[in-house]
Amino acid sequence: MTGLRGVGKTVLLNEMERMATKEGYRTISIEAHENKSLALLLIPQLRRLLFELDRMAGAGNKVRRGLAVLKSFIRGIRISVEGYEIGLDIDPEQGAADSGDLEIDMPNLFLAVAEAADERQTPVAILIDEIQYLRPPELSALIMAMHKMQQQQLPLVLVGAGLPILPGLAGESKSYAERLFSFPDIGPLSETESILAVKEPIETAGEIIDDSALQEIFRLTKGYPYFLQEWGYQAWNQAEQSPITAAIVRETTNLVERRLDENFFRVRFNRLTPREKTYLRAMAELGAGPCRTADIADTLGMKMNSVGPVRSSLIKKGMIYSPSHGDMAFTVPLFNEFMKRAIPEFPPIH
Ligand SMILES: Nc1ncnc2c1ncn2[C@@H]1O[C@H](COP(=O)(O)OP(=O)(O)OP(=O)(O)O)[C@@H](O)[C@H]1O
Ligand SMILES: [Mg+2]
Repeated sequence: MTGLRGVGKTVLLNEMERMATKEGYRTISIEAHENKSLALLLIPQLRRLLFELDRMAGAGNKVRRGLAVLKSFIRGIRISVEGYEIGLDIDPEQGAADSGDLEIDMPNLFLAVAEAADERQTPVAILIDEIQYLRPPELSALIMAMHKMQQQQLPLVLVGAGLPILPGLAGESKSYAERLFSFPDIGPLSETESILAVKEPIETAGEIIDDSALQEIFRLTKGYPYFLQEWGYQAWNQAEQSPITAAIVRETTNLVERRLDENFFRVRFNRLTPREKTYLRAMAELGAGPCRTADIADTLGMKMNSVGPVRSSLIKKGMIYSPSHGDMAFTVPLFNEFMKRAIPEFPPIH
């Protein structure tokens, strides 16, 4: 699932994990991170999974082999062993997943784990949030591993969520990924869905909200789940009795915008360097939607190649992404409007 900030990807991922558990899956849930390798995130979870499988009834030696291959994998990535001891009296399986090349080792590790799960007749779901933080070699190792799962028809599935990644994938990885996965786009809710999202919980609580109030909330939030949550919450608190009216929604709007500015937007803004702020301000000048990188450079009065570094640091920070070649867009809904509030004058006066 790919989509902008605050559209509900993590909420959906958690719901899917709940559904998978209910269906008898064992789940592994991790959040990718700028400064932490995928291998380090996976190891303790796979270790736990293999121990769980080990405790389940069933014959065969695939689980023990899984642990031996995991041990070999740990050796391959040469991390300090402290804290990642497998514990059991198992020797690493030499050569199984210790080449040091993630694109070879990760598929082999997944194969051993999935065969163990298969032997215990237990499906496994791996859920990875913030998938855009995976480095290209990690992403391609993961894609190769899932390709193996599909070829061998093993019971291991992957669900990811994050900012759009496909445009950033190159070559073979990309064509594999396009065949192996589907990439549902999670966007804002429609007007009907937005209205339902606010109205239903209010009516369940035995209170009433006017249609005009619901329409006003939709107009202000443009259907973005996080904003619906904020406006709904504040309107509910502000109203002294039913019905919640459009006037009440309007009264809360200043408060909501101030809270959003201070929390949702400002925390991101504060992590930016002055040059990054100026780049985003130029983007805001060009509107809400995707814009051409060339136009941004023009707006800044700079050459394309001199804005390259600031653009990549903004992508790394997850502030902008490339929806298609040569285009840039904000990852945070309505950030363009916030940038204009934060820096009213453009170009900035020196
Ligand atoms: N189905 C839902 N029901 C109620 N609230 C929701 C739902 N989906 C999303 N929200 C609201 O939107 C907020 C953001 O959702 P979530 O954290 O899942 O977004 P996200 O897409 O993971 O964003 P990010 O990219 O910043 O991680 C939630 O905290 C909640 O307030
Ligand atoms: Mg999230």
